[in-house]
This record gives sequence, structure tokens and C-alpha cells, in this order.
Amino acid sequence: MPSSELTGHPDEVDSARAGSVRLDHVTHRYGRGGEAFTAVGPVDLTVPAGQFLVLVGASGCGKSTLLRLIAGFERPTDGSVRVSGAEPRPGGTAGVVFQTPRLFPWRTVRGNVDLALRYAGVPRAQWPGRRAELLARVGLEGTEERRVWEISGGQQQRVAIARALAAENPLLLLDEPFAALDALTRERLQQDVRRVTDRTGRTTVFVTHSADEAVFLGSRIVVLTRSPGTVALDLPITLPRGDIDAEELRGSREFAELRARVSHAVKAAAAA
Ligand SMILES: Nc1ncnc2c1ncn2[C@@H]1O[C@H](COP(=O)(O)OP(=O)(O)OP(=O)(O)O)[C@@H](O)[C@H]1O
Ligand SMILES: [Mg+2]
Repeated sequence: MPSSELTGHPDEVDSARAGSVRLDHVTHRYGRGGEAFTAVGPVDLTVPAGQFLVLVGASGCGKSTLLRLIAGFERPTDGSVRVSGAEPRPGGTAGVVFQTPRLFPWRTVRGNVDLALRYAGVPRAQWPGRRAELLARVGLEGTEERRVWEISGGQQQRVAIARALAAENPLLLLDEPFAALDALTRERLQQDVRRVTDRTGRTTVFVTHSADEAVFLGSRIVVLTRSPGTVALDLPITLPRGDIDAEELRGSREFAELRARVSHAVKAAAAA
């Protein structure tokens, strides 16, 4: 694999390919004038199509802001954001799982997933099959008729993940999607997300606080400095992908070394 595939050097990556992301000198400020606060930047980052990029950094360093910029929900104050070579469109560019699940609480689980299938342009006749498949993937079989306010926070987050997967966009953005889940469900979903994105070749940008989660999931990890976040470490992860034994991978020496390295970098970046 050429090094550009790992590091995403902007000059060597085809940034018009479906699912690729390119941030050029991106800075984002909230507020105006004397009240203005720089949340992130400047950041230069190119994510080649198919890469699984994990963003790690201290609370408040600008991870969610970066994700919202890539999704097109915010426009950068300076610099430019391109997804598949074009300006991102809110709702159209990426499947997004927000830090807190955004569902339609008065609808059922079925209603929430179906709405995502409708937006994705899936023909109605295929909805039952696709819905069952998506709900099984996130471990929510049998909950179709329950209202969102009747299920737990962790279950709501899983509905949000099913909705994002339904979109079948070439780009998936996930903001700490597993933070509220129990350890067992979390590990299962980590394996699922890793497998699904490997299999479909989707580009993924995933935010987490956990070095362990970052090393398990990422084909590349970017550690951000504290606010305003800039790139402190850009690390290719060359652990095996595809059909792997998760226990074996987690137990390997390489995994332990990478986890220690990322954990150390996060602490150093937050303290700098
Ligand atoms: N809409 C907003 N208006 C003003 N300031 C904001 C807004 N959203 C975020 N901020 C500020 O910008 C900075 C970065 O916020 P952001 O949510 O991107 O951080 P984060 O890295 O995702 O943090 P966490 O790990 O806690 O989720 C923070 O200081 C935050 O208070
Ligand atoms: Mg956040």
C-alpha cells in the first residue's frame, strides 16, 4: 500500500472520489467580534475514500465541530471542506450519528428506521427486509413497535446507528456513538461497525475518547490538541482488517503498544 493511502497526503490522494474528505486550512469560530471563540483549527486533513479515520482528543477540543463541518451542518469560518470533491450538503453528504441521538421521539422504532430508508430512496417494498436486517445488526430485534421514549438511551443510540447505516452514503460520521452503551454491546457494535465499513468500503470518521476503541476501529488515528484543536499526531494503523478474531487482535502485542502510544499522545496533547 503506498504511504499516501495511509497518511492521506493531500497531493497524492484523489479527493474527488466518492466518500473522500478534504479539509484545507479549516478554522471554525463561534460567535462574533469580541465574543468570538476559536473552537478548531487550522486543520489540514485529507481522508482517502475507504479509510476509517478515528479522531481522538480532550473534551472541548473541537471533535464534534469538525464532524459538523464535514457533514455540512456548519460552514468553516476560514478554509474549505470538500466531500467527494464538492461542498457538503446537510443531510445529503453523509450518514451521521450525533453525540446524543436525534430521533423522532413520538414515532416508533419502525417509523424512525423507515424514515431513513425513505430518505435513502429505498423502494417501499424493500423496507421490511432492510429494516429487519438493520435492527438485527444493532441488536434491536423485536422493538419495532415501541416508541422511542419507551426505550433506553443506549437503545436509542442503536436506532440512530441503524438509521445512519440505512443511508448507504459513501461517508459515515459517528460522534462517540458507543459512549452510553454497556461493555458487551459496545464491543459487539465495534466489531459490527468495523466489519460493515470494511465490507462496504465506506469512508468513516469516528470520534472517541477511548484509545482502545480508536486502535480497534481505525485504519488511521488523528489525535487533536486541546482547543482550538489542531492535528497533534497522525498515525496509520496497520493491524489486520477483514475477518479477524477480535479477542486475538486485542490480546496482541502490537495492539497493546498502539493503545499505549495513542493514550500517551492524547494526554500529552491535552496538557500542551
Ligand atoms: N454552538 C456553539 N456555540 C458556541 N460554542 C460552541 C458551540 N458548539 C461548541 N462550542 C464550543 O466549541 C468548543 C469545541 O466544542 P466541540 O463540541 O466541538 O468539542 P468536542 O471535542 O466534541 O468535546 P466533547 O469531547 O466534550 O464532545 C467547546 O469549547 C465548545 O464549548
Ligand atoms: Mg463532542
